[in-house]
Amino acid sequence: MKHIKDFEVSNKNVLVRCDLNVPFDENGNIVDDFRIVKSLPTIKYLSDNNAKVILISHLSNDDAKGENETKLSLAPVANALSNLLGKPVLFASDCIGEQTKAMVSGLEPGQIILLENLRNHPEEEANDDNFAKELASLAEIYVNDAFGVSHRAHASVVGVPKYLPAAAGFLLFEEVENLSKILDNPNRPLVAIIGGAKLKTKVKVINQFLDKADHILIGGKIANTILQGKGLAITGAMPDPDVMELVDKIDITNPKIHLPIDAVACLEKDGESYMRKTSVGALHKDEAMYDIGPETIKLFSEIIMQAKTVFMNGPMGWFEKPDYVYGTLEISKAVVESKAFSVVGGGETVGFLKNNNLMNSFGYVSTGGGAMLSFVGKDKMPGLDALEKE
Ligand code: 3PG
Repeated sequence: MKHIKDFEVSNKNVLVRCDLNVPFDENGNIVDDFRIVKSLPTIKYLSDNNAKVILISHLSNDDAKGENETKLSLAPVANALSNLLGKPVLFASDCIGEQTKAMVSGLEPGQIILLENLRNHPEEEANDDNFAKELASLAEIYVNDAFGVSHRAHASVVGVPKYLPAAAGFLLFEEVENLSKILDNPNRPLVAIIGGAKLKTKVKVINQFLDKADHILIGGKIANTILQGKGLAITGAMPDPDVMELVDKIDITNPKIHLPIDAVACLEKDGESYMRKTSVGALHKDEAMYDIGPETIKLFSEIIMQAKTVFMNGPMGWFEKPDYVYGTLEISKAVVESKAFSVVGGGETVGFLKNNNLMNSFGYVSTGGGAMLSFVGKDKMPGLDALEKE
């Protein structure tokens, strides 16, 4: 991959694909500016070197896809960027079109403009070639600094670099470098801690780590699903056939895999009426595991304390509820105490670490959620492939 520094950018229009997909609260305030802050080095570098900086990004709203999808605006992100940079950041209310072209052609060297949410155009996710060409026509150089979306074959990620000299930004390089430390010759023991809710996105990673890691510790809702599917916890109905297919792909007889031995449980239907600690085998039929239990915390922590390298993705339980926070908190603390080089990522995990002032105690915090999992699961990364064209 070419580096942004390989190009002479002074006085050039540089189109930078960032991942500024940040969470908002119900009042439209940015809840977590981590991804914005991590995008600053590339933006500053370009602006300081007199490029005309054109920023593009998506905002996604998974809860409102299709017809109900509301048009989400990046305008608050332009304000946040401007505050962090201490200089104005212009904002264009569309990422393509005549008005945007006019605003871009009026840019002075060093000036920065953010264009509106790419996904307001369905052509972005469809990787439409004309849309990519229109975006490319705004600039002379393309920079991908959006590691978090480099697992998507979208127009702004793979289409635009077909039409412009392309390079990776500082953040993209930083991500690849740090995540590669986990995959290529890690200091051992390497311990992977995998939690969260979506088994579909985690199965590949678990199996990838069977080759790489010395231990794989599994918590969170995915542990509940695996225990249920393997008949080790009789909690409610068996998972749906498509989920069972995923469960079948995990060989829990492999001694590297460690599942919870006890749980903090509650009625599956509410998760709030009571809270009890129990061994996994004694969970009731109408209950679910909402956190890992104290014995599991002890077992997992002992393994973590021996680690030299740790990969962590996904919480151990329903950490938003004070009753179920301990698993995630204690496991995070064990990682910090172990002094292992630790790489952590995933929106929920990063939010949790931030709220508990643990962010700076980890070796590397990735901006990627799905992208991080794809990278370590050795899935295709079309955004990275697109930069390796020359
Ligand atoms: C993320 O939040 O992981 C990235 O911004 C990618 O977003 P997406 O999953 O909506 O493509």
